[in-house]
Amino acid sequence: MPAIVLIGAQWGDEGKGKATDLLGSRVDYVVKFNGGNNAGHTVVIGDEKYALHLLPSGILSPGVTPVIANGVVVDVEVLFEELDALMERGVDVSRLKVSLNAHVITAYHRTLDKVTERFLGKRQIGTTGRGIGPAYADKINRVGIRVQDLFDENILRQKVEGALDQKNHMLVKVYNRRAIEAEEIVTELLSYAERLRPMVTDTALLLHQALMAGKNVLFEGGQATMLDVDHGTYPFVTSSNATSGGAVTGSGIAPNRIDRVIAVVKAYTTRVGSGPFPTELFDESGEYLRANGFEFGTTTGRPRRCGWYDAPIARYTARINGVTDFVLTKLDVLTGLAEIPVCVAYSVDGVRVDEVPVSQSDFHHAVPIYENLPGWTEDITGVRTFEELPQAAQNYVLALEAMSGSRMSAIGVGPGREAIVVRHDLID
Ligand code: GDP
Ligand code: IMO
Ligand code: MG
Repeated sequence: MPAIVLIGAQWGDEGKGKATDLLGSRVDYVVKFNGGNNAGHTVVIGDEKYALHLLPSGILSPGVTPVIANGVVVDVEVLFEELDALMERGVDVSRLKVSLNAHVITAYHRTLDKVTERFLGKRQIGTTGRGIGPAYADKINRVGIRVQDLFDENILRQKVEGALDQKNHMLVKVYNRRAIEAEEIVTELLSYAERLRPMVTDTALLLHQALMAGKNVLFEGGQATMLDVDHGTYPFVTSSNATSGGAVTGSGIAPNRIDRVIAVVKAYTTRVGSGPFPTELFDESGEYLRANGFEFGTTTGRPRRCGWYDAPIARYTARINGVTDFVLTKLDVLTGLAEIPVCVAYSVDGVRVDEVPVSQSDFHHAVPIYENLPGWTEDITGVRTFEELPQAAQNYVLALEAMSGSRMSAIGVGPGREAIVVRHDLID
C-alpha cells in the first residue's frame, strides 16, 4: 500500500511540480494536503509549460485522480479558473475530488492579507497576497467557512455573518477600509455550489479505501520545510504544515500508512519573501544563479533571492520529515562555475554550529562556513545516467549526499520531464 509523501526541503520552488510529474504515470492519486493558490508549480512537458497553483501537479498525468484534501484552503474562483484553463488545453480534469472539510478563501481573506501586510511595514512577511494566512487564522479561530457550508444556505449565512462581525470593526476602525457586506459574500459563495457539487466528497475515506485497495497515493506538499508554520523560520513562514506530518493531518490518513518521504532539494538555495537566509548572495554569483536558474516566482513573478546549498538545512529537513530520498534539482544551473561553495555549518557569534539553530536570533546571525567544491563546464542537460555526469558533478552530488542525511535518488538536469537522472527507483 504505497503512500508516498513529497515535500520541499528548503524555502519552496525546489521543483516539486516536476518531481510529482515524474511519478505521475505510476501513481493512482495525487493529493494536495496544505496551502492553497500561494503555491506555484511549473511542469514542462515537451513544448508545453504548465503553471499550477491550487491544483495538484498530478492533474497533468492521465489516469491520476487529483485530490484537494482537508488541509488545503480553497479559493473556489481560482479553482474554476485553473480548471477552465487546463480544459482549454485539452487536459482531462474530470476526476478531481475536493474535500468537504477544506476551508474556503473568501474576498475578506484576500483583503485582510493585503491590509495586514501593509500595516506591518518593514516587518512584512512578503506574502503572496492570496488570503492564505487569514483563511487559516479563521480555521484555527473556529470561524472559518468550509466547502460543505456552501451547500447549506442558512448555515453559510450565519457563518459568514459571524466571521465578518469582528473583521468589519477591524477593517473600518483600524485599517480605514470599507466594511464588507455579508450578503455579497454569501451570494458569491452560493453561486459556486452547483459546479462544485460533483467534485466534493469525504476525501479521507476515499484515500483510505484507495490505500486498502493497494493503490499508489502521492501526497504533494506545497511550500516547504523552512516555510512550515511550526518548523520553519517563524514568523517568516506560510500558515500551514508543509512538512510530512502535514500530509497526515491535512488528508486524514494515519501516520503508519506512510511508506516513503521524498524531499525535493535544489542544488543551491532560493527564497521568495522576507526572512533569514544564511547563504543568500548579494553579488554577481547571486545574479548568476537567478539568471541561469530563471529564478522568478511562478505565482507572483518576484525575483527569488538566491544563495549556495545549505547542508544543515538539508539535514534538518531529513530529520523533521523522515526523508527516505532526496530529489536534487537544477544541477545543470551550476554548470560553468569554477568552484561551488557549499555551506557545511554556521558560525554563530564566533561559535561553530552544525545544526539549524532553534533560536530565531541565532539563525538571523548565522554566518555560513563554506567548503568549496570543484565545478564543471560540460553541458549536462542531455545526461541520463549518473556515470555520464562529469566527475566533478558526480563528486558534487556525492558530497551533498554525504552531508545531507539521506540518499540523492534522482537528479534534475533541466526543466523538461525527461531531464532527470534516476539513481534509485522512487516507487517500489
Ligand atoms: P515548485 O514550486 O517546487 O513546484 O517549483 P517551481 O515550479 O516554482 O520552480 C522550479 C523551477 O525550476 C520551474 O521553473 C521548473 O521548470 C524548473 N526546474 C525543475 N527542475 C529543474 C532542473 O533540474 N533543472 C532546471 N534547469 N530547471 C528545473
Ligand atoms: P511553492 O509550493 C515559495 C512564501 C511567501 C511568503 C511566505 C508567506 O511554489 O514552493 P503566504 O502567501 O503563504 O502567506 O506567504 O511564504 N511562499 C512561498 N515561497 N514557494 C511557495 O510555494 C510559496 N508559498 C508561500 O513568499 O514569504
Ligand atoms: Mg513554486
